[in-house]
Amino acid sequence: MAKRGEKIAMLTCYDASFAKLMAHAGVDILLVGDSLGMVLQGAENTLNVSMHHMTYHTKNVAAGAPDTLIIADMPVGSYEHDHEAAFKNAQWLIKSGAHMVKFEGGADKVDTARYLVTHGIPVCAHLGFTPQSVNLLGGYKIQGKTEESAQIILEDAINMANAGVSLIVLEMVPAPLAKRITESTTTPTIGIGAGVDCSGQVLVLQDLLGIYSGPAHKAPDEFKSPRFVRNFLKDTNSIQVAISNYVQAVKNKTFPASEHSY
Ligand code: KIV
Repeated sequence: MAKRGEKIAMLTCYDASFAKLMAHAGVDILLVGDSLGMVLQGAENTLNVSMHHMTYHTKNVAAGAPDTLIIADMPVGSYEHDHEAAFKNAQWLIKSGAHMVKFEGGADKVDTARYLVTHGIPVCAHLGFTPQSVNLLGGYKIQGKTEESAQIILEDAINMANAGVSLIVLEMVPAPLAKRITESTTTPTIGIGAGVDCSGQVLVLQDLLGIYSGPAHKAPDEFKSPRFVRNFLKDTNSIQVAISNYVQAVKNKTFPASEHSY
């Protein structure tokens, strides 16, 4: 698709009913994201998500969409320490129905990516804002704003591509940087808060439907959606139509618009 210039529409998905609906609405890739810690479990961040949570939801998504590409997130603690453990956990996700695994991190994770790819596991890298490092990064902040930090993300993307990853998610980076990265590698990029020039886009389902209002313990009016979110349900009374409209907006490059980009 990226070679043909067709934009790739990806959405997070956590269960069989939505998986089936999304597959029929034309979503190209279902991401079983560890965002489930926030949108399903009501937590503040993704740091308490476990392999058991991820394999449970991956199985459900695979049951609902047997013919759609499924990527599963590797949760905190499942891949950082040694390659063998990363391989075993990745294999567990694949056995649960994922076709590819995604994990966060740049230079320090290139060898992990190479190890998994060499051992037959397709990998999606996740660069830019990496939610599992929210405490290190000091909150939900755009990454790659200075030329120096932009250069690091660009080099990480090139090194991940050379390590054999199949996709690169770019989260919350300036649109010109995401464009530069997309033009610098043949590995497709999937943006979230990264502008329209990525090879494709991903959104969290609950953001697309406008139903996420922050952690369970906080009042909804304390929450402000990030800039990159668009509520597709606002203009229709059908979830299926909202998801189809998202797919169409990604394909015809009307989403993300400049107001959703940095
Ligand atoms: O967990 C997730 O949903 C993600 C997306 C935000 C890319 O990683």
